[in-house]
Amino acid sequence: MEKVVALAKRRGFVYPTSEIYGGLSNSYDYGPVGTELLRNIRNVWWKEFINNREDMVGLDTQIILHPQTWVASGHVSGFADAMIECKNCNSRLRADHLIEKWLENNSAKAKDVIKNTTVYGTVLSKKEFENIVENKEVEGITLEGISEVISLFNIKCPVCKKYDWTVARKFNLLFETSIGTVSGEKSKVYLRGETAQGIFTNFKQVLDSSRVKLPFGIGNIGRSFRNEITTGQFIFRTLEFEQAEIEYFFDPENSKWEELMEAWKKSMFDFVTKSLGVNKENLKWRRHTDKERSHYSKDTYDLDYKFPFGWKELWGIAYRTDYDLKQHMQFSGKSLEYVDSVTGRKFIPHVIEPAVGVNRLFLMILADAYDGSDKERVVLKLDPKIAPYKVAVFPLLGNKPELIKKAREIYENLKPKFMTSWDDRGNIGKRYAAQDEIGTPYCITVDFDTPKDDMVTIRDRDTAKQERVSIDKIEEFLQNKLEP
Ligand code: GAP
Repeated sequence: MEKVVALAKRRGFVYPTSEIYGGLSNSYDYGPVGTELLRNIRNVWWKEFINNREDMVGLDTQIILHPQTWVASGHVSGFADAMIECKNCNSRLRADHLIEKWLENNSAKAKDVIKNTTVYGTVLSKKEFENIVENKEVEGITLEGISEVISLFNIKCPVCKKYDWTVARKFNLLFETSIGTVSGEKSKVYLRGETAQGIFTNFKQVLDSSRVKLPFGIGNIGRSFRNEITTGQFIFRTLEFEQAEIEYFFDPENSKWEELMEAWKKSMFDFVTKSLGVNKENLKWRRHTDKERSHYSKDTYDLDYKFPFGWKELWGIAYRTDYDLKQHMQFSGKSLEYVDSVTGRKFIPHVIEPAVGVNRLFLMILADAYDGSDKERVVLKLDPKIAPYKVAVFPLLGNKPELIKKAREIYENLKPKFMTSWDDRGNIGKRYAAQDEIGTPYCITVDFDTPKDDMVTIRDRDTAKQERVSIDKIEEFLQNKLEP
């Protein structure tokens, strides 16, 4: 992970936010090549799931919605994590992560503690403690139970190494802000915690303004905000992130949710492996347990990726039933029913929701593409579709006007057609190294033979093999290689 983080900073993929002021926890900015990669991921997602499908439309909704939205959705009352604070050093930690991390390294010790304990707390039984240690997770355990686990195992603060905790408390993840200019008249609003609610609240408008018919889906990409307590793991979990969410609406009397779920799971898996070029060995499905599932979901799966810090959720898919539309009907007093054009039957559609973080896809792609197996170089083996630059053009030497002139002509010609990078600094070895590390599939060098034979050297990123190609065939060469 350290190598991926170092490369991301060194080459301009990701920078810590406000670094000149010491940074801001769980916040990152995207540098020049990171921004291109992010845009490419977003565009490939949009093209595949919205533009290429007849049954999908897209929306672009606001970050600040009417505050009742979040009351109706259950976020104001229930969108919370268990938080614990160290009274000695004031560190705030997510209690479930504290326990789960401790258990990863101390499960033998925890088993011994259970064996030698005769009196347990008031909430959890011996069997429940054993299950927690066995599964290394506290999903679904109450706040009191969480405090009992920390106390029984005497889990110390990982920052100051002392044991001096507050009790575990609920910590709501929604960011609050206010609208209005006069302080007494300001009203509280929230930065959205998910893009999904913008879809539900516009459901009726989409029905009335476009020619969609069930089953159909609505996609929405944009920033979401969560006051996450956890630190570390780079861009895996940040305060501000981009979500790409789909609500796929259907008539529960005409479509089987299990079949739709399977079809969407296949589309998600294909997207990651075929469109983003990620190794399928590093992916697996995990079904949520009853305790773990969100209040709105009847069935949930996570597509987990083997990140350098372990298997973690990449992309979730949930059967949200008609929960959200019903809630919004109740809180707004407006009908969000669908009328079947053939039978005239009125009903509330159900939804399947595939929801992913674009930044999490980004981290997966960096980790998956990083190849340090060659001692001489680090290569980012990005799928050409998403690589920030498709090709780079160099004059062999940066101080030879005839080479620079020829190379610039080639660069200017390619630039409108392919994302093309120019480099005339340092030596050719350094330029190759820089392009390998940002995943540029091809490098073109204009050398001393070029003015004589009108040919250039094209080097392949993955094999480092070089071949001579005639200048008038460069475009065709790249087209065949990049868009076979
Ligand atoms: N609408 C459902 C929903 O928001 P979620 O599992 O909380 O479900 C969906 O989020 C996806 O958004 C996750 O699978 C993950 O990829 C991404 N995500 C969630 N919280 C995130 C965070 N703090 N930072 C980065 N990505 C996040």
